[in-house]
Amino acid sequence: MNHRPIASIRWKLAALCSIVTLLVFVLSTGTFLFVFDLSLRVIFLVEWLNFPVLLWIGVIVNLIGTSAGYIIGRNMKERLEELDDAVYKYGRGHFGHRLQIEVSSKLDEIGLTALHLNEMAEQIERQVASLQKLSTKNVELLEQSNRTVVLEERQRIARELHDAVSQQLFAIAMMTAAILESDELGEGKLRKRIAAVEKLAETAQNEMRALLMQLRPPTLADKSLKEAIEQFLHECVEKQHQLKLHWELEQLPELSKGIEDHLFRMVQEGMSNILRHSEATSASVRLRVVDGRMLHLRVSDNGIGFEVSVIKNSSFGLKTLQERANEIGGVVDIISAPGKGTQVDVKVPIVIKGEIEES
Ligand SMILES: Nc1ncnc2c1ncn2[C@@H]1O[C@H](COP(=O)(O)OP(=O)(O)OP(=O)(O)O)[C@@H](O)[C@H]1O
Ligand SMILES: [Mg+2]
Repeated sequence: MNHRPIASIRWKLAALCSIVTLLVFVLSTGTFLFVFDLSLRVIFLVEWLNFPVLLWIGVIVNLIGTSAGYIIGRNMKERLEELDDAVYKYGRGHFGHRLQIEVSSKLDEIGLTALHLNEMAEQIERQVASLQKLSTKNVELLEQSNRTVVLEERQRIARELHDAVSQQLFAIAMMTAAILESDELGEGKLRKRIAAVEKLAETAQNEMRALLMQLRPPTLADKSLKEAIEQFLHECVEKQHQLKLHWELEQLPELSKGIEDHLFRMVQEGMSNILRHSEATSASVRLRVVDGRMLHLRVSDNGIGFEVSVIKNSSFGLKTLQERANEIGGVVDIISAPGKGTQVDVKVPIVIKGEIEES
């Protein structure tokens, strides 16, 4: 947009006023001379500083008129410049700009234009806000529909894996177990190999169970965190009979949905790791409230453990767990060593549901 200051209006008005006063002076002098039947010489009769007084009067009247024109023009120029500046700013998207309007005095045309410009800016501001809201909503809807598609696809894959691969792995485990029980096998190399196949089938089954759990993660839905964790742990026990799992879940205060969701996912990740990697015989999940202001979550096992400092780059579970904890202002401690089991400790400050909504 071309933004040029209005420069000439005060001079135009000054020139106009100058001409008008000059004309009024000439006309009134002419009329005076004509009415009283005086000759033009009368003008030059009385002098001041060697210049006819009547012409002095003409010059002074003209100067006053020109100055008045200039002052009025300057005032109008300033006000028009303010309007122009506002239009220029609106053109550049600064709709927060407002023109000063004197409430006390009656509005003239420029004041009225300023008022209308302010109203227009307010209207545009409102429209921009609702447009932004709409575009955010669109993005949310798009994300939601993407999530739904991804979830449906994951459910489908999980179903396929469960109905096909899982069943076959189960069949392999059963068959190898039956072969191992048969006397025909003897005690030679073949028994060892079959035993190895049984072990592999068992490991693959464990992997598959954990994978299915990740693909079809149970959600909190309308359940409280405690209920959801309990239900989830019951499912784990049903899936993994060899593992002795026990839990201790205290009654929790009403937490915000975000915190509950993160904590639930952390329990899931901890359990998924136990099922997949730990080879543990017993594991425990504990959720406690300490001093009324701190949540302690501990997921531990007595399995093979691992070197905490060497976590593969391709592993995301524990990193995500750390990120989830950070997001809700918590900290994570992973205590493990080869052969010493694993303990994942999460400490999160409690923010009661209402406290977030108020702040
Ligand atoms: N309870 C556990 N017992 C033994 N090893 C574990 C345990 N938890 C984690 N680990 C080791 O730490 C590694 C990193 O775990 P992490 O959860 O980050 O990744 P992952 O489980 O391999 O993959 P994913 O990204 O699917 O979670 C695992 O590969 C495993 O070797
Ligand atoms: Mg993991």
